[in-house]
Amino acid sequence: MSLISQEDLNRVRSSANIVDVVGNYISLTPKGKNFFAICPFHEDHNPSMSVSPDKQIYRCFVCGNTGNVFTFVEKFLGVSFAEAVSIVAKECGVTLSLDQTIKKEDKFQKEHELMDLVLKIYQNNLRAYEGEKAIDYLKKRNLFDETVKEFEIGLSLNKNILHDLLKEKKYGDKMLEELGLINCNEKEFLDVFRNRILFPIHDLNGYVVGFTGRCYLTDIVPKYLNTKETYLFKKGKVLFNYHRARDAIRLNKSLILVEGNMDAIRLSSVGIKNVVALMGTSLTKDQMEALKKLRVPLVLMLDNDSAGESATYSIGNLLEEQGLSFSVVRLSGAKDPDEYVVQFGKEAMVHNLEKTLSFMDFKLNYLKKNKNLDEISDLSEYIKSVLINLKKSQDDVLIEVTLQKLVKDYNISYDVLREQLGTKELSKKEEKKSVVKNNKRINGYYKLCEEILYYMMNGGEYIRLFQKHIGIFPIQNYRMIANEILYYYEKNKTICLADFITYMETNALKDVVLEIINREHEIELNSDAMFGAIKLFQVKSKEREIKEVKDKIKNELDDRKKMELTQKLMELKKEVF
Ligand code: CTP
Ligand code: MN
Repeated sequence: MSLISQEDLNRVRSSANIVDVVGNYISLTPKGKNFFAICPFHEDHNPSMSVSPDKQIYRCFVCGNTGNVFTFVEKFLGVSFAEAVSIVAKECGVTLSLDQTIKKEDKFQKEHELMDLVLKIYQNNLRAYEGEKAIDYLKKRNLFDETVKEFEIGLSLNKNILHDLLKEKKYGDKMLEELGLINCNEKEFLDVFRNRILFPIHDLNGYVVGFTGRCYLTDIVPKYLNTKETYLFKKGKVLFNYHRARDAIRLNKSLILVEGNMDAIRLSSVGIKNVVALMGTSLTKDQMEALKKLRVPLVLMLDNDSAGESATYSIGNLLEEQGLSFSVVRLSGAKDPDEYVVQFGKEAMVHNLEKTLSFMDFKLNYLKKNKNLDEISDLSEYIKSVLINLKKSQDDVLIEVTLQKLVKDYNISYDVLREQLGTKELSKKEEKKSVVKNNKRINGYYKLCEEILYYMMNGGEYIRLFQKHIGIFPIQNYRMIANEILYYYEKNKTICLADFITYMETNALKDVVLEIINREHEIELNSDAMFGAIKLFQVKSKEREIKEVKDKIKNELDDRKKMELTQKLMELKKEVF
């Protein structure tokens, strides 16, 4: 969490008008008390997002996205919470001192210092005598001073130096070993990286967390050695060049995803800076989340070999499942994007990036691989695999166009293809209905608890009614949210939805709170209406209790206990009537 105080957060939040702020990014149409917009957080066709100037929140009734000005800017621009606050503050002319907004608590301060220091040591090694050979290697690969500096490329020497150099600094052998920099045995401290050109790897926030080192004197295995998994470096959570590329990604409104760090460095060095690398051919869930956050379409440009092709297929499927918008580039004439640029130049690369393939087009080719379509069995297998892929698509036009292409290319009847595909086509309206229904799936009792919580987030008078007549919720999550509301109110003496959202920013229950706010509560915000809800809640709570006791009676074997329970049941029933 940032170090900005709750009061300051509320001050910025209440100086900003959500209609103006959201209106800076997307177009809003007034309708009744609220404003409506095409929701930028899902593939929206009708305006599903409403922005309420009264409540200072926005909600999308289709994808469920909800929040206040900060949440909107955070998600829309893919920035951190603290950055979103400082952007909103700037937009509405509220000054916050800089270190208050950006500086976050760094619980790994010491580790980060150490990694920075080690990076400097490695960079410095390039200037040592042995550095000449490394620089020659880099030059041969068309990597010159400017790029070496930008990517903070360094070198590990053919000797163990880290321990001796760092012992003065009191970091301790343990930390050096835990961070994957040295190995200790009884006699000596060995540097993990020897004789390798080193590329620092940063986490998503830009801290150096590890290195990837390439051999350069002779070809050895492994070609690249990476820092082992440590508590700072988790390979599946980082993307090479992510922190540097963010501005360019935002500016270009697109992101190029490549396999190797060298591909990213090469593209960047010729001015194509909106690029990040996977460092291999797998894409993890965490990496996917990081990409999703940027909210721009992707260009998947993996290596030209068959591993790159298979990875394009599998990663493409993952991206598709997650609803990310992306297209594909398959290069030819060179092994990977790095070599392609070296061989054919930037313009040729830009040309490739301008005429990307849709994933469906890629698949139509890919699924043909190793098949002889002149043979009946191969052809029928091919058509079936295309249909299986089409079934996953929500895009009616794409389905139709692809079917037509199959009809034309292979002379197959359209009706047969349609029939095979099944009747899965949901019209957009039905799709929306099913999502909305999904949102309302919640049962009556839970809904009532949520309604009461919703009242409570809207003002002190509702909180007092809760305290007087309910006091405590029997369901844990709701109980905890109620406690947060009470705590917030106690501290601030006032409460409104938009500020409570900010307060919940780092709370594990934030998503539940946003869901509650997002749900369409068909209620009027006044004390009488809340009192009605409370009465109903009390009746339903008793009913639940009665049901619980009845279940217990059914399962109880001990006669004496059964009697006690029956007694209790009668008392409960008396209370209701
Ligand atoms: N990789 C790895 N370990 C290996 C080989 C590769 O971690 N033994 C990762 C590296 O991050 C590398 C990426 O997979 O950048 C792609 O591998 P490859 O295509 O073999 O390397 P290139 O990017 O072509 O590297 P170079 O041009 O330096 O040979
Ligand atoms: Mn390469």
